[in-house]
Amino acid sequence: MGGKLWQGRFREGTSKLVENFTASIRFDQRLYRYDIEGSMAHCKMLSQQGLLSGEEEDILIQGLGEILREIERGTFVFDEAQEDVHMAIEQRLIEKVGEVGGKLHTGRSRNDQVALDIRLFLRDEIQGVDEDIKGLQSSLLAQAKANLGAVMPGFTHLQHAQPVLFSHHLMAYYEMLRRDRQRLSACLDRVDVSPLGSAALAGTSLPIDSKATAELLAFPAMSRNSIDAVSDRDFIIEFTSAAALIMMHLSRMCEELILWCSTEFDYIELSEGFCTGSSIMPQKKNPDVPELVRGKSGRVYGHLMSLLTVMKGLPLAYNRDLQEDKEPLFDTVDTVRQSLRILARLWENVKVNKERMEKMASRGYTLATDLAEYLVIKGMGFRQAHRAVGKMVGYCLEKGKELEEMTIQEFKGFASLISDDIYEILELKHSVDSRNSVGGTSLQQVREAIGLAEEELS
Ligand code: ARG
Repeated sequence: MGGKLWQGRFREGTSKLVENFTASIRFDQRLYRYDIEGSMAHCKMLSQQGLLSGEEEDILIQGLGEILREIERGTFVFDEAQEDVHMAIEQRLIEKVGEVGGKLHTGRSRNDQVALDIRLFLRDEIQGVDEDIKGLQSSLLAQAKANLGAVMPGFTHLQHAQPVLFSHHLMAYYEMLRRDRQRLSACLDRVDVSPLGSAALAGTSLPIDSKATAELLAFPAMSRNSIDAVSDRDFIIEFTSAAALIMMHLSRMCEELILWCSTEFDYIELSEGFCTGSSIMPQKKNPDVPELVRGKSGRVYGHLMSLLTVMKGLPLAYNRDLQEDKEPLFDTVDTVRQSLRILARLWENVKVNKERMEKMASRGYTLATDLAEYLVIKGMGFRQAHRAVGKMVGYCLEKGKELEEMTIQEFKGFASLISDDIYEILELKHSVDSRNSVGGTSLQQVREAIGLAEEELS
């Protein structure tokens, strides 16, 4: 096969060095399915418009179908000299069907073609990421249900704050992931737009029907400006930004998983299948999976920064810089999907050490706020109550005891309003259940949250 498809005006061949430097085929071959799908729709439209005969349409579509099968069977040879997936497929088509293959690119440019391919790819992947998020949400939900009632210390500043239900804590992650799904769905609106018909940058004089191709490819919308359509990569940046947020959420979750399975916390146990050992310390069982997810958030943030930087200062319309969009995008998709999937499986295999969590839940005077609120109900102003309980905590620290270990006389020494009913207030379950404000940690609120989540996921 001699020369490149764009060889016409050149008298010299491309330097090997340049060929290697400019080719994207190593990574953009991943788009082959979308490229062929787009080309088939384009052929149908060309034929409807009389730009191809019915017979030519059949030949091209059949040829494209065969190429698809060659690629899937692994017999297609992607060659760097072909530059990118678009030219490789077109060149193969011409090789297979002869000169009529040269009609495929009528009324089209690689500039609108590549924009189309990424949009088709990303549309699918966004749905995939959404499914993966749902998978992780389901695992969290299953743990929240299985451990409903288990109490743990809630933290602020990583210091014991107030007791909460373990399930309530897990459902916080459910909510974070729910927002991630909303962001993806909003991003999909901007991805799901057909750029076909924009050609190189200015549209085409040929009587094409862009609406028809958009419909064939099930796009609900079409680009409104051809210059914008071939130079816009906002939708990739939006997706990567949503992905960076997902990774940030996963990284926070992983940090807690890592803390919780440490000897110091001992709240959970990761199954052996999800841990790795040490090459020197025989006793080690390390949480490498959450550590790696936490680490991988870095590369996704990096991709977001790369993409913004590639786009910054680019003049309209298409510039070859835009080819640099693919590797960050592909790696973002792979990283975020892999991370979501492995965490869903990991959570299925987490053993929760309820006794330990419950034992720790009352440590550090976590019921002090309950005591202050008790005084408020009995008529004391909140600030005064806060001060009085602060004094009680100071006293207990000095005496080395817990609040509930104080005698009623001791209590009365700090606030005469306190009576025998205080001991019930200072029980963990009571404390948790009393926080029944909307979105609070009471059993009732958490049950409702779980019910709502189950509905959302079904
Ligand atoms: N491989 C190119 C890319 O990924 C395809 C578009 C090339 N267009 C061009 N005019 N050279 O962006």
